Amino acid sequence: MKIASKEIDFPFVLAPMAGVTDVGFRCVASFFGADATVTEMLSARAMSVNPTKTAYMTLTTEQEKLKIAQIFGHEPEFLQKAVQNPLLEKFDMFDINMGCPAPKIIKNGEGAALMDNLPLASKIISACKNATTKQVSVKFRKGHKTENFLEFARMCEESGADFVTFHARTVAEGYSGKADYDAIATVKAKLDIAVIGNGDVVDEKSLNLMRATGVDGVMIGRGSLGRPWIFAELQKSNNFDGAFLGTSKLFDEQNKITNLAKFATVKKHLEILRERFDEKWLENYIRKHLLWYAKDLPMTAAIRNKLATCDNLDESLQILQEAFGVENE
Ligand SMILES: Cc1cc2nc3c(=O)[nH]c(=O)nc-3n(C[C@H](O)[C@H](O)[C@H](O)COP(=O)(O)O)c2cc1C
Repeated sequence: MKIASKEIDFPFVLAPMAGVTDVGFRCVASFFGADATVTEMLSARAMSVNPTKTAYMTLTTEQEKLKIAQIFGHEPEFLQKAVQNPLLEKFDMFDINMGCPAPKIIKNGEGAALMDNLPLASKIISACKNATTKQVSVKFRKGHKTENFLEFARMCEESGADFVTFHARTVAEGYSGKADYDAIATVKAKLDIAVIGNGDVVDEKSLNLMRATGVDGVMIGRGSLGRPWIFAELQKSNNFDGAFLGTSKLFDEQNKITNLAKFATVKKHLEILRERFDEKWLENYIRKHLLWYAKDLPMTAAIRNKLATCDNLDESLQILQEAFGVENE
């Protein structure tokens, strides 16, 4: 499929995740093979009125191969302005969020609430398309008040979307239950534009099930938390320049990523953020990422608790280093 300016056979895309897909995480996921990465959702109105916060969320690195900015809002004029905003100039394409289930977003008629208002959703898509020569995609769910995903997908196509990403859960389902892969197969079969499948891809088995729907690419969200190397594992690739992480041995004899490489990834993620963000802010922000990285590590409850409350980044790294069993250089 064509994604941004590139033709890629079955792209692997890092999902937009608010409060998660920071510049460091997008960078390390790209290193491990994410073909495209998506920012956290960016308010079209906020970036026009007060761009400071958006500026932080739109930081990028050279490592990212295809950079996608995800925008949201309910006012076509603000979304149109967003795709022309200088802050987003360095992005290769735009994605419009029409799937967010958060109550405060729905209340504003944004995110998945747009699935109940096809005329407005259509207006937003065409306004964005008319304002840029770059690709514009739409990410949506199975439905909000009704399960109108097929009608909605067709509307996206008719309104000029270059492709769609479909997370096959309703708003009411949130993140519970299973994504409906039959619904994904239906949308793929009925659309002429490309469809990226999203929901519950965490390993080879789930990836194969997703591939069986016929989709043109896959987007991975929660499966990458604390595990940005999932892109290398699923693509079965091990051809990476370890120099980027400052370590030569990325994979062992069984082609499994080594603990050394995992810890180097944590360090790289943090290093990128430390270069760009205030240390005090980062101490709080990074905790969830560190706990995700620590998820499967053998740790006593006391040490895990220490990591959860530690407000010194070097100490947190030390805890993780020990848990990964990595010796000092
Ligand atoms: C913490 C978190 C934040 C999210 N933020 C966004 C967002 O900003 N925009 C969006 O379109 N989807 C967002 N999502 C949804 C994901 O992009 C994705 O559609 C969903 O997690 C299903 O994919 P998965 O099963 O691979 O995680 C978020 C999900 C999580 C868990």
